[in-house]
Amino acid sequence: MIVLGLSGAVSHDASAALYIDGKLVAAAEEERFIRDKHAKGKMAYEATRFCLEYAGVKPEQIDIVAFPYAQISLTSPARWHYAKRYWYAPDRAIMALLNGNRRYDSNYREVMKLLDDLDIGSSRVKFVPVEHHLAHASSAYHLSGFKEKCAIIGIDGKGEYATTFFGYGENGKIHKIKEFYDPDSLGGMYGSLTEFLGFEILDGEFKVMGMAPYGDPNRFDFSRLIDCDGKNFKINTQLVNCLGMRRYKEKGKGYYFSQKLIDWLGPKRQGDEIDDPYIDYAASIQQLLETTALSLIEHYLGDIIKDTGKLCFAGGVALNVKLNQRIIDLPGVKELFVQPAASDAGTAIGAASFASEQAGVPVEKLQHVYLGPSYTTDECIQACEQYEQKVNWSRMTNVPVETAKILDYGNPVAWFQGRMEFGPRALGNRSILGSPSHRGVADRINAQIKYRERWRPFCPSILDTVAADILQTDHPSPYMTFTFDVAEHWKQRIPEVVHEDGTARAQIVNKNTNARYYSLIEEMEKLSGNAVILNTSLNRRGEPMVCSPTDALNMFYGSDLEYLVMEDILIKKP
Ligand SMILES: [Fe+2]
Repeated sequence: MIVLGLSGAVSHDASAALYIDGKLVAAAEEERFIRDKHAKGKMAYEATRFCLEYAGVKPEQIDIVAFPYAQISLTSPARWHYAKRYWYAPDRAIMALLNGNRRYDSNYREVMKLLDDLDIGSSRVKFVPVEHHLAHASSAYHLSGFKEKCAIIGIDGKGEYATTFFGYGENGKIHKIKEFYDPDSLGGMYGSLTEFLGFEILDGEFKVMGMAPYGDPNRFDFSRLIDCDGKNFKINTQLVNCLGMRRYKEKGKGYYFSQKLIDWLGPKRQGDEIDDPYIDYAASIQQLLETTALSLIEHYLGDIIKDTGKLCFAGGVALNVKLNQRIIDLPGVKELFVQPAASDAGTAIGAASFASEQAGVPVEKLQHVYLGPSYTTDECIQACEQYEQKVNWSRMTNVPVETAKILDYGNPVAWFQGRMEFGPRALGNRSILGSPSHRGVADRINAQIKYRERWRPFCPSILDTVAADILQTDHPSPYMTFTFDVAEHWKQRIPEVVHEDGTARAQIVNKNTNARYYSLIEEMEKLSGNAVILNTSLNRRGEPMVCSPTDALNMFYGSDLEYLVMEDILIKKP
């Protein structure tokens, strides 16, 4: 059975994923192909084309198309909650009651058009709409590989109306325990503060999280943003998650926070220079997110955690690696699985896995995220030969050995190998690498790729042989979805990848999923004594991660990087 999953239901992060008989064969984000971050307002045309071509599947062979957005009935509490809470924006409130599936209808039209444009056939194929939070939940539960009963958490900005999902998975089925609805959204609250701190929603949340450890969470009391008794919560929409007239406006742009928030906290942060008091605000919002989410998790999922200790988590807020560290630290938690493409890109996998399971074909545990296109050395050479300027390339005889030497001299290296990663993290196939033992390498990378925000820490890829010693835990971490406390005796050895608060967002690398990357880190260990490499994504600020060899060359020549390794060739700047 062939199931195509498509995301892009809420106007960003369109992607496609293809399951064949329960096996995830290919998945990719549209932004990588069209070179437009988050592919706002787009459907996944190029990503779908790639998935079909990669799998050798003809459009007419697809049995099911699954989409992470469904109709919400008027009898559901969701639409009534929304209408009640948005009384101050009557047009929205009335719309939710009278025409509450308007967005579903427009999504449906766009998906049908895509199916016809790509010859999949809208009238032939079976179309399965999946509630947005069920798609997030499915991406977490069905890909976790957990056999025992496990708790499921879904937290994002919003899907149709739901913003937060607590449930559990058992015997292949997902059960809802509790949902919260817009405007009561933790992701929305964090996003509103992200805008106030001068960053953009969807990307800026990582910067707020990076900023937080520099600030004092106790200097300002943020509790007025949310009313939470540990069981229910209500966002203060006088301050954040605002719509219509309540929104603060600047130069014609509306924000999710209000003038009242500015009256309280001062002007919105401008530029990237002013830190005080904004780093304290970042610390406060991070702490508020953590305490609220943890209290709800304990209330709704505490019994399941006590029973089996297994949890899985998806939705944009699942990319908050600091929150994830706190969840792992909860008593009774044995293992947390965070679906690595936790934001909306991952709902393509979520909807497809849900539809496959529903049709009686169980899906396999997620093996890795190397699910995008790959290119041969010959294709890389061809891209060099056809490039708009002369490219100084040469063949390497031993890629890991030669690359490790360049890195060990303290040079950053752009590294392009194998299949592109699905999800926001570079995991050793589209990466910029450095030696974490060389003080100053992080600054050098920042200078060479220009304008990488100083609030974003650099992260380590660590061999499985030393991970437990560095991170002081046996918890799995293949996808950089958690931070861990770095052991004291390692902090001085790998200073460039330890964050301000002594943590690192680590990827543990094993040989089975990425043999060449593993060999490279082994060679680094021979030279430096440390089986660790600094790894950041192969892109410049504001651009999507590199997909093709030509994208890599564009990125390379648009930066001050001096070395690019693509498959078996080395490109050097003169
Ligand atoms: Fe979502």
